[in-house]
Amino acid sequence: MPTEKLAIHGGKPVRKAPLPLEFPGIHHMNGKEREAVLEVLNSRSPFRYYGVKLTRQASKFEAEFARFLGVKHAVAVSSGTAALQVALAAMGVGPGQEVIIPAYMWVSVAAAVVNQGAVPVLADIDQTFCMDPSDLQKRITPKTVGVVVVHMSGAPADIKALLKVARQHRLFLLEDCAQCAGGSVGGQKVGSFGDIGTFSFQMNKNMTSLALGQGMPARRIARLPPARAASQAAENDRQNAQEQISNSAGSPKISSGRIAKNRRSEGGHRMLSVDDLSGC
Ligand SMILES: Cc1ncc(COP(=O)(O)O)c(C=O)c1O
Repeated sequence: MPTEKLAIHGGKPVRKAPLPLEFPGIHHMNGKEREAVLEVLNSRSPFRYYGVKLTRQASKFEAEFARFLGVKHAVAVSSGTAALQVALAAMGVGPGQEVIIPAYMWVSVAAAVVNQGAVPVLADIDQTFCMDPSDLQKRITPKTVGVVVVHMSGAPADIKALLKVARQHRLFLLEDCAQCAGGSVGGQKVGSFGDIGTFSFQMNKNMTSLALGQGMPARRIARLPPARAASQAAENDRQNAQEQISNSAGSPKISSGRIAKNRRSEGGHRMLSVDDLSGC
């Protein structure tokens, strides 16, 4: 068998330059996205709520994304991490409660639960690399209020089995689809199975918006409060900030007791996602 000298020993190198960095979304930016960016720049109104010439890009993106998923509502926020926090707040998660999350996930998931003052409880994964439905069953205690399923690396979890366990125990089910935007199970998009789905559009994701990222909690059912609550949790941030500014100017007391975290998404965020939606 012929052997070749390794490049390190003076043989011919297979590759002379390193492979390009694999940030999936950025390789698909094209003219349509450039046009959308310019529309916002030319309007000189990047803020979603007011400006000299509103383009309503954030609202358009919310409506397009909800249609893409087959859900009734989507709310654009500033990142996938913010989407998780807004979604958990909308589900009413708070101190003294437990939320079950998979042992293999991104740290934002555990952090979002802790940020609500609740306790994250780890469940094992199975051959899907996502949460194992039988281990989920074992982790449920009287303090458990919900489950965050994370669809990892573009491969969906066994979502129907997980949803069955959650429903049997009256737990909410949140799907973190940051790594699986556009993924589906039996023709139905991930993010539309549970009570809320969250997404991330930063440049390391398969659907990419601006480099700073963007997230989206999306909800399927209109009749329950969390859809409105998620939208309010995001939009309240602006009001909270204003309340706090006026309170600190007029009086030393902050009456709302809420902290402004500014998770709102702006008009510019739709710009680089517009073509991704039509391509899936
Ligand atoms: C599974 C998962 N959830 C949440 C996030 C957080 O998204 P973002 O970086 O937009 O805050 C990520 C991003 O790395 C992720 O991979």
